[in-house]
Amino acid sequence: MRQAGRYMKEYRVLRQKYSFLELCKTPDLATQITLMPVDQIGVDAAIIFADILLPLESMGIDLRFSDTGGPVIDTPVRTEDDIRNLRIIDPHEDVPFLLEAIRQVRRELEGRVPLIGFSGAPFTLASYLIEGGHSRNFVRTKALMYRNPDMWRKFMEKLVNVVVRYVRSQIEAGAQATQLFDTWVGCLGPADYETFVLPHSREVFRQLGNQVPLIHFATDCSALLVLMRQAGGHVIGVDWRIHLGAAWKKIGYDVGIQGNLDPTVLFAPPQRIRESVAAILAAAENRSGHIFNLGHGILPETPVDHVRLMVDAVHEMSRR
Ligand code: CP3
Repeated sequence: MRQAGRYMKEYRVLRQKYSFLELCKTPDLATQITLMPVDQIGVDAAIIFADILLPLESMGIDLRFSDTGGPVIDTPVRTEDDIRNLRIIDPHEDVPFLLEAIRQVRRELEGRVPLIGFSGAPFTLASYLIEGGHSRNFVRTKALMYRNPDMWRKFMEKLVNVVVRYVRSQIEAGAQATQLFDTWVGCLGPADYETFVLPHSREVFRQLGNQVPLIHFATDCSALLVLMRQAGGHVIGVDWRIHLGAAWKKIGYDVGIQGNLDPTVLFAPPQRIRESVAAILAAAENRSGHIFNLGHGILPETPVDHVRLMVDAVHEMSRR
């Protein structure tokens, strides 16, 4: 959940010299940043410093990150030709820097904590490609889906292929778990999820198999949880908009659950942070298979000492 990022002073210092994409593409720097929260915050896993949008560049898309508003794609995907022209990536040729960073992080971690790799899920990647950036209503994405289901299917099949290649190469390089981010899929109702997304996400999970634990994450997904579980993943990741205990009951205790502290709670006084951590742990009812995490990305102005306090509280209160 962007545990390595702008809330850390050392990261901001590097960002004054390099763009976000330069940091991602320089294995020494990406390694250094990946390790920052492990060393300073004491988290139980490292997540490779990269982005879900990195493979899009290799598909033939111009990607940039604006200084204020996040990712921008100036030539979004809108037509059948646009979709046909998208390249299927070869990670060894196209994202060698990422694979090198994974190998380097694994060497430097020396087994202290596991390393998590990640990818966007097909729907969320499609939404960026079609909208050209973040969107409020996902109108163009849904319009393509409703008007031209055949074209949508071909597009999703292409993205499934890219995601599977991207994740497999990370696992081969040394990623010990993978998180699939379907961040924006909560904009769909259950029937549309079932028709337009589930078959494709399921195909990703089927092809990835059981080599490493797979975490399936979305925000605003309370109404989709059972379907997400059907699509796949050993662990379902949820945000704070649902009670963790209720979510776990819905998906069943034979899969794990990840979550779900509201990242803005980290702006609260220490005692309130501890109470929120305690409430989430209580909701997990001491079952095994709960990964404590934020419900979504950490915010840039978050006080670092509060993040450390949260991690310490989790360690203290969940000790068995
Ligand atoms: O968690 C980690 O430490 C690993 C790094 C990570 C990043 N992005 C780095 C990043 C991860 C896991 C992601 C995933 C990601 N990227 C998602 C899915 C998860 C989520 O948060 O919903 C999405 C939708 C993206 C696309 C993306 N990249 C957006 C929307 C933005 C702008 C966000 C913002 O707050 O400005 C980015 C940029 C980005 N990715 C940053 C980082 C550290 C900020 C870059 C900077 O300005 O230095």
